[in-house]
Amino acid sequence: MNIHTYEKLWLIGAMLLIVGFIATITYGSVGLGIAMIDDSEETIDPSDISDDDRFSDPRVEQVGDNEYEAYVVAQTFIFRPDPIEIPENSEVTFQVTSPDVIHSFSIVGTNVNTMVIPGEVSSMTAEFDEPGEYGVICNEYCGTGHHDMEGKIVVVPEEEFDMTELSVDAPDQVDLGEEVSITATVTNGQLEDHETTVTAEIGNETFEEDVTIAGDDSEELTFAVDADDLGEGDHDWSVDVDDESESGTVTVGDDADEDEEETDDEDAAEETDDDTEQTEENDDE
Ligand code: CUA
Repeated sequence: MNIHTYEKLWLIGAMLLIVGFIATITYGSVGLGIAMIDDSEETIDPSDISDDDRFSDPRVEQVGDNEYEAYVVAQTFIFRPDPIEIPENSEVTFQVTSPDVIHSFSIVGTNVNTMVIPGEVSSMTAEFDEPGEYGVICNEYCGTGHHDMEGKIVVVPEEEFDMTELSVDAPDQVDLGEEVSITATVTNGQLEDHETTVTAEIGNETFEEDVTIAGDDSEELTFAVDADDLGEGDHDWSVDVDDESESGTVTVGDDADEDEEETDDEDAAEETDDDTEQTEENDDE
């Protein structure tokens, strides 16, 4: 059978188009790394995400040289943490879950965009080369506050980035003749050593101490003043390191019963612990 040359050309052209279409669709579904959230990943209990140590405390964690994991909770109508702070030149894997309804986690101006389904953990990795700010929005209608559901990613210059955390143990009340002693625990969440300065103020007394904290480690510093030097009454104290700050008030005076001094001390210690927890909770808000 003789096929006309033009017909042959049209046939070849049509074949190439078909192969081209199939190649494009295959590339789009496999080559771009677009994945669907499915049952292959382990599910978590959406009604109790605090059971999962990734989401009980939404945060950014360093896992490699320039690699970070961000554990994010999308809930009506906020993202936690907010802002998500990461350093430039980093590769960040976002793991996102929802405790209530379906949301999305979409970084404006990038192709990072995922649905967030209660009980499922959506995961995706993005690189951030330049300092800057990105908006995070929710693309899935999730309720009356949907249009207000937004967060922020702040990419900071490497030298400005730290993952320092501060917790302070301070007494509420100290008797005259004793010492007002404040213990600051500074934790370095990064893998490299971190050099910083801790400043503390008790009444009018100022302390400044340089510390080097090993990676993924913490240092305890104690600052003390004689209660007699402060004098009777209320005195403010504060501790500052990097962007972290804690403050409170200590009362100097002997309203405690001397016979029960030991018991009082124990009570004081317990109360201080409670206070620290409360302060941390407030910070989260
Ligand atoms: Cu969350 Cu819309």
